[in-house]
Amino acid sequence: MSTEQSSEFVSRVEARSIRVGVVGLGYVGLPLAVEFASNGFDVTGFEVSAEKAASVNAGESYIQDVPAGEVRRLADAGRLRATTDFGELAEIDAIVVCVPTPLNKTKEPDISFILTAAERIRAAMRPGQLIVLESTTYPGTTDEVLLPMLAASGLELDRDFFLAFSPERVDPGNEHFQTRNITKVVGGVSEASTDAAAALYGAVVESVHRVTSARVAETAKLLENTFRAVNIGLVNEIAQLCHQLGIDSWEVINAARTKPFGFMAFYPGPGIGGHCIPLDPHYLSWKARLHGFEAKFIGLAEEVNSRMPQHVINLVTEGLNRHRKAVNGSRLLVLGVAYKRDIDDVRESPALSIIGKLVDLGADVTYHDPHVPVLRLEDDHGRSAGSSRVVTLESVELTDSALGAADCVVVVTDHGSVDYGRVLRLAGLVVDTRNITSGLLTPELAAKVVRL
Ligand SMILES: NC(=O)c1ccc[n+]([C@@H]2O[C@H](COP(=O)([O-])OP(=O)(O)OC[C@H]3O[C@@H](n4cnc5c(N)ncnc54)[C@H](O)[C@@H]3O)[C@@H](O)[C@H]2O)c1
Repeated sequence: MSTEQSSEFVSRVEARSIRVGVVGLGYVGLPLAVEFASNGFDVTGFEVSAEKAASVNAGESYIQDVPAGEVRRLADAGRLRATTDFGELAEIDAIVVCVPTPLNKTKEPDISFILTAAERIRAAMRPGQLIVLESTTYPGTTDEVLLPMLAASGLELDRDFFLAFSPERVDPGNEHFQTRNITKVVGGVSEASTDAAAALYGAVVESVHRVTSARVAETAKLLENTFRAVNIGLVNEIAQLCHQLGIDSWEVINAARTKPFGFMAFYPGPGIGGHCIPLDPHYLSWKARLHGFEAKFIGLAEEVNSRMPQHVINLVTEGLNRHRKAVNGSRLLVLGVAYKRDIDDVRESPALSIIGKLVDLGADVTYHDPHVPVLRLEDDHGRSAGSSRVVTLESVELTDSALGAADCVVVVTDHGSVDYGRVLRLAGLVVDTRNITSGLLTPELAAKVVRL
């Protein structure tokens, strides 16, 4: 019976006698695989990218937050390896799925990566396995989609296998919170599945929070990211409103945050980016729409946030105008193109759309980003219709002459390695979308800066 099966699985987890498989070794999967391996588990990563699998086997890391030394140590110790042979899933006891969950062109969930991974798991399934989905997805994916697919193997839930959802909450670049000290929410499609998955994560993270179903766990993740998208949307609207009223929005937020309760500070910016905040709320609103419910906050936040790159263009135009210059023909130097500070990820970065729009307006755009050596702009990065040209740019050095020659320096991402005092001294005009210059401004320097 189920309890007996799950308690046997739990005992094997405690004895570290299970083998863990991580399907998809990206920003989420590689750190997780390393965490399991460094906690004494024998871990195999399953990748469609032969290049990534080879890197792991060679003891190399391609994810900024994962130290190469750690991958090498675990690979040399025989605890961590990667393969493209999904037949080897049959040898794994706990399979954790961390594949991408993008949106399609019409902003609807694309769970095709999950489906492909599930098909490969089903082909290799045998009794005694736990399967956990970590990819962010809409409520119902685990029990409505995955469960019937896996049960079609002929194996039975609870008797032969366990199935759960546990959202990934890793925050790339966060120095304080990493896999180990972020509470793991776990919800199985059965109680025995929750027991098995809670035991697995309990072995590697400080705290596990059990919920009664996979759907609750799926929805909790979407609430977290919708909460961020909506609150960022609110402050982005306040920033535009304050700009119109001639009020410093940053000073307003810093004043409001002195209230010790009932207020949580969010800050405006050039737009939202990354693989999560711009995408995940659509998974929730799509599912709600199927059931006749329109999620208005999600739609509104998306509308406000997606207009921020255009607001930045307006600020650049306003700044150049002060100098009697047009965007067309101006030399613009963009600082930071990753979607947030001190990371190398440009997925959905507002910089793509800002640069795309500036290029289309005829500006001569260069960029500097110590984490992103090359940037490729496709025609769907905020470009005008008909801009089918793919633009490839290379990060330039932040020399005195590059700063001095720019008609406008646009701070899109406030990487910690840049000396903003120097930028202010050498540039003639700075558009600061992150308020990174505020502590450095003398009245003379302030005259050069346009802040969001
Ligand atoms: N990046 C984050 O900060 C973050 C945070 C929380 C949650 N998530 C969620 O985690 C999931 C993974 O995101 P990510 O950022 O790690 O994506 P990623 O693109 O960095 O990594 C996914 C990996 O899966 C591999 N892959 C694709 N299909 C595969 C398949 N069928 N079998 C095996 N490997 C396959 C890809 O080659 C890639 O290496 C997504 O659902 C995302 O929403 C991401």
